[in-house]
Amino acid sequence: MKTIAILSQKGGTGKTTLALNLAVAAEAAGYPTVIIDLDPQASAKEWSKSRERDTPVVISSHASQLEEVLATAKENGAAFCLIDTAPHSEQDALKAARAADLILIPCRPAILDLRAITVTKALADLANTPALAVINSAPPRGPLAEEASTAIRGYGLDLAAVVITQRMAFVHSLTGGQTVLEFEPDGKAADEIRRLFKLTCTQVNLPAFRARKTETSKKPEKRRSA
Ligand SMILES: Nc1ncnc2c1ncn2[C@@H]1O[C@H](COP(=O)(O)OP(=O)(O)OP(=O)(O)O)[C@@H](O)[C@H]1O
Ligand SMILES: [Mg+2]
Repeated sequence: MKTIAILSQKGGTGKTTLALNLAVAAEAAGYPTVIIDLDPQASAKEWSKSRERDTPVVISSHASQLEEVLATAKENGAAFCLIDTAPHSEQDALKAARAADLILIPCRPAILDLRAITVTKALADLANTPALAVINSAPPRGPLAEEASTAIRGYGLDLAAVVITQRMAFVHSLTGGQTVLEFEPDGKAADEIRRLFKLTCTQVNLPAFRARKTETSKKPEKRRSA
């Protein structure tokens, strides 16, 4: 099981949005997926209650139980796990960072978010876990995303090559217990999420698709004699 922690000590950067969207992308790619919601606000858990499907599974947990919850998820066949964390929660965030194979740090291309990213980077460094910043909610046009990329690299952080744009599909999809992949599968937001999922898979050495088991016991048709 591969575990991805979504961290940012700044509030409202898109942690929950990315966790839910990547989890649905992982399920669609054939990976049984679990989201562990460490945020007492329980936004991910609330989203799952408003959802028609019962996957991905969302488990509300306290960081002190993280190891056990991860072990149980693995025993139950989860292949992909996303940990959604709360802002301003250094100790809990550190536990999530230590348990993860990869940390994703969503960051809006705005000066206050960019400055706050150094605190989250320090946690990733302390945990000694690879981390990747992801620019989220970038304006569709203009130089802001490019300027943010330069600033993030300047802080010594690796940056995802995929930028997530500010799009209403990200907001509306969650209202109905969906993600952009279900709300607007052919839209630009869905395309960005699929590309971010693929990039995440590459980072943790997973194929972007996992073949589902198919019927194997079909006998070949007998040839009719002439
Ligand atoms: N790419 C995007 N385009 C448009 N809106 C977005 C995007 N990403 C996030 N949002 C919106 O921004 C708000 C904050 O996002 P979200 O709740 O995912 O952030 P968060 O980091 O989990 O917040 P918190 O720190 O409170 O847990 C939400 O209303 C969400 O719908
Ligand atoms: Mg959140």
